[in-house]
Amino acid sequence: MAPVLSRSETAGSRRTVRIGFLGFGTVGQGVWKHVRENRRRLEARLGARLELARAAVRQAGKKRGVALDAGQLTTNGREIVEDDSIDIVCELMGGTGEARELTLEALRRGKVVISANKALLCEHGEELFATARKHGGQYFFEASVAGGIPIIKALREGLVANRFPLIYGILNGTCNYLLTRMEREGLAFEPLLEEARALGFVEADESLDVDGWDTAHKAVVLAWLAHGKWVRYDEMVVEGIRKVTQDDIAHARSLGYAIKLLAVVKRDFASNRLFVSVHPALVSRRNVLANLDGPYNGVSVTGDIVGTTCYIGRGAGQDATSSAVISDIADAVLWLQRCEPRRDEPSASPGVGREPACGILPLENVESSFYLRLMVKDAAGVLAEVASVMGRHLVSIATVLQKTAATPGRACLILTTHVTNERAMKNTVEELAGLESLLEPPFLLRVAAFEE
Ligand code: NDP
Ligand code: HSE
Repeated sequence: MAPVLSRSETAGSRRTVRIGFLGFGTVGQGVWKHVRENRRRLEARLGARLELARAAVRQAGKKRGVALDAGQLTTNGREIVEDDSIDIVCELMGGTGEARELTLEALRRGKVVISANKALLCEHGEELFATARKHGGQYFFEASVAGGIPIIKALREGLVANRFPLIYGILNGTCNYLLTRMEREGLAFEPLLEEARALGFVEADESLDVDGWDTAHKAVVLAWLAHGKWVRYDEMVVEGIRKVTQDDIAHARSLGYAIKLLAVVKRDFASNRLFVSVHPALVSRRNVLANLDGPYNGVSVTGDIVGTTCYIGRGAGQDATSSAVISDIADAVLWLQRCEPRRDEPSASPGVGREPACGILPLENVESSFYLRLMVKDAAGVLAEVASVMGRHLVSIATVLQKTAATPGRACLILTTHVTNERAMKNTVEELAGLESLLEPPFLLRVAAFEE
């Protein structure tokens, strides 16, 4: 099928590529601003004229940092996707309802769609790519994972020779911002969340960030790129950071760790099984990721040929995200002009590349050591009771710390375990939760075994 360039106009010897926006908030305005400010340099490198066409928003009258002429704003996204003069649609509105419908319509019309919407990609990726394939369009998504870090291109291009036994990292800027400022300045969660929102890091629905789902969406995208499998939510462990307290952070620090929200994508090639998890974890201070501040993300990728590589950069915010979207605009312009090969299928996809389809690793095969916080009655025999439950599930205790709680008659037990498996720990926690001496639900964190 002919590429979309047939619709583009010519200006002298150069093509004009017209770009429309669905959404003109933090990211949309950043992309518009940086394309406008760097247009001449980008045009020289890409050999095409870039024209910022129009943007769709929800409220036309809203005050914005980047002002557009009245004729450039619409509240009807269909006007963007149905405009035959627009070659590239940047979907920067978020959500999985209207964003999906408008994206599908743009793809049905053979347009290139560029998106930062990891929720949409995670939940409807197969449908989006199939539609792009069928109608000769393209779907690019560099900004959907780890903000300004070009991790999609790293996996898909730079590391194409590799298979990936382990990918892990910090993929949510908001949570890293909250955890680092809680640790360094002892500040409370809620006011920090407001600050992160003002800085443009937080999703419209903040629970996507703090309950781990935004990280889960990104982990699913990485797992698909690396292993050609769309992992479902019910096949993963997903936990957020709401229950992490200042005391947990202090205990972790005294043990030589920082608490980070980690995504882990682990493939056991011997059994051909994959496991994806998202949870707050104790990360050794020797690991570079333990020392990442604020909205920074970091991804460690181990390839069977390259070894371990690590990528660090700002994972959220207007400028970093715009940089990633503009890299997709550049790819899209090249694709429109030269019709470069499609890039939507990961090399590991069953039927496309080398690997047979992989399954999901059962919980009993997923191992780590754990940190357990228990608020118990401060009474004789309670520690022995806890130890006996753990022993019954073959969970071996590595360290124990007892702290007298502020309320009389209560004590806080902090335990760490030797390496055990997720199933044993899940059963242990369920049994501990039923003990009469337990005064609050147990709180569990994994201890990441990664040192680099
Ligand atoms: P914002 O909330 O700042 O902007 C969303 C924009 O979409 C607004 O302009 C809004 O209009 C518009 N919009 C929402 N719904 C509709 C609709 N139904 N019709 C037309 N316009 C609509 O979000 P962000 O810019 O922060 O995020 C956009 C996308 O980028 C999301 O998918 C997000 O997950 C992703 N992302 C964000 C990052 C960040 O750091 N912020 C980083 C990486 C990805 P109005 O302005 O009138 O309200
Ligand atoms: N809310 C997301 C974050 C935006 O904080 O990481 C970047 O995807």
